[in-house]
Amino acid sequence: MTQHERLLIIDFGSQVTQLIARRLRELNVYCEIHPFNRVTDAFLRDFAPRAVIFSGGPASVFADGAPMPPASVFDLGVPILGICYGQQVMMHCLGGHVERGHGTAEFGRAHVSPTEEKLDLLDGWFENGREQVWMSHGDHVAKLAPGFRVFGISPGAPFAVTADPARHFYAVQFHPEVHHTPGGARLYANFVRIAGFSGDWTMHAYRDEAIRIIRDQVGTGKVICGLSGGVDSSVAAVLIHEAIGDQLTCVFVDHGLLREGEAEQVVTMFRDHYNIPLIHADESELFLTALDGVSDPETKRKIIGGLFIDVFQKHAHEVGGAEFLAQGTLYPDVIESVSFSGGPSVTIKSHHNVGGLPAKMGLKLVEPLRELFKDEVRALGAELGLPPSFIGRHPFPGPGLAIRCPGEITRDKLAILRKADAIYIDQIRKHGLYDEIWQAFAAILPVRTVGVMGDGRTYDYALALRAVTSVDGMTADYYPFTHDFLGETATRIINEVPGINRVFYDVTSKPPGTIEME
Ligand code: XMP
Repeated sequence: MTQHERLLIIDFGSQVTQLIARRLRELNVYCEIHPFNRVTDAFLRDFAPRAVIFSGGPASVFADGAPMPPASVFDLGVPILGICYGQQVMMHCLGGHVERGHGTAEFGRAHVSPTEEKLDLLDGWFENGREQVWMSHGDHVAKLAPGFRVFGISPGAPFAVTADPARHFYAVQFHPEVHHTPGGARLYANFVRIAGFSGDWTMHAYRDEAIRIIRDQVGTGKVICGLSGGVDSSVAAVLIHEAIGDQLTCVFVDHGLLREGEAEQVVTMFRDHYNIPLIHADESELFLTALDGVSDPETKRKIIGGLFIDVFQKHAHEVGGAEFLAQGTLYPDVIESVSFSGGPSVTIKSHHNVGGLPAKMGLKLVEPLRELFKDEVRALGAELGLPPSFIGRHPFPGPGLAIRCPGEITRDKLAILRKADAIYIDQIRKHGLYDEIWQAFAAILPVRTVGVMGDGRTYDYALALRAVTSVDGMTADYYPFTHDFLGETATRIINEVPGINRVFYDVTSKPPGTIEME
């Protein structure tokens, strides 16, 4: 467990709770999100937060079994900030009154103006008279709890900013963590300053701490790490290697569904540049044979996922006596979110992962990135000296080109796709757009169309280009290339890649589309 000063975010189920954590981490404050129903008195004692934030949430304090924090949180003697539902909960618990929102619901942009009295939480606010904020609430506070006063009002929320300054309890009706509250970061900065955080959460400090923890956990044992060539597993591998040297062996499974030059790049970087023992398992024949004639997307994913585990297990045995498996699990994968919908969510795609491995192989997990967000992993990668071009790489899915080749996969189609994809990415880099785009790739469509080249007829495959902007891959929008860029890229691909005679650009957002084709 981390030694840093800690802030606790109690999650009441807001869609944007993770953003609160992002804002705090940007201030070099270590925080964790925990669902309200896990935060018991004992938990609070162990966690020993220096401050607490109550997130928003979709519930009403009037509902049966409405989510509540433990009463002891108010006796910790630390600053508390309640946001939206968090404000209502605070008032409800401390003797104020919340009313149902009959006709007073407020959603979207609003403006908060100050009252007479100054509040430390609002230092730097109201320089231009009022602040834009983002509201999203049905119920509202009707009577403040004893000790609380009003420090900001909006037309729809007479209690937009409230506080009991003596106890450092703050409660706001709006969401300071979202983009549409432009001064929100300032508010969080003030809150952590009031709570006395020194800002000790930096990647430099984290690196040393993580190395110490890995050494303590692993001792003289052996660790294996499945390397995908992606940023997360790469950063995990380099960090672990720094901690325990050649007690680590990486296994890179080449399933024959990688992009042009990818296997060579990974092998060169890890084996030659970092001197990390690496098994390069070229299993392309095995995977491609198993995928022969398969066109159903879920079947493809299951075949690849299953074979991956078998192959990994086979090669891991070569290492002999490994007790630990390293994984690049990130904090968003660990956060247990509060679900109010009941019931399991629908599976859109079976994501390929090695989740079943540790139990099957009797291995213990080493997950040094479990506390980090993606951009923190990138910062840690830079701290470890990984080249910027590698750290900034777009995500690449475990099933690789298989899901960019809808329908049956053939070796011919894969070869065409590799060439076209390389040209597309080259174009994006040449135009300086790579870092603006979250993910870009080509997909070969299972359809052939008629064209004319020179004086001849062609009957070749159609190619789809995809490029999206996104924050976390959960939602995405298509990237607005210029017509010139698209025209130039299509011409290059058709001229340079035999087998393609038509190029489409995919302008679907997610939802309703997904980023990958399958
Ligand atoms: P979708 O297609 O679900 O993709 O919108 C969202 C993000 O996840 C990546 N992706 C995967 N990553 N294993 C992975 O490691 C998978 O099976 C997988 N499927 C999709 C996709 O590339 C995008 O970044």
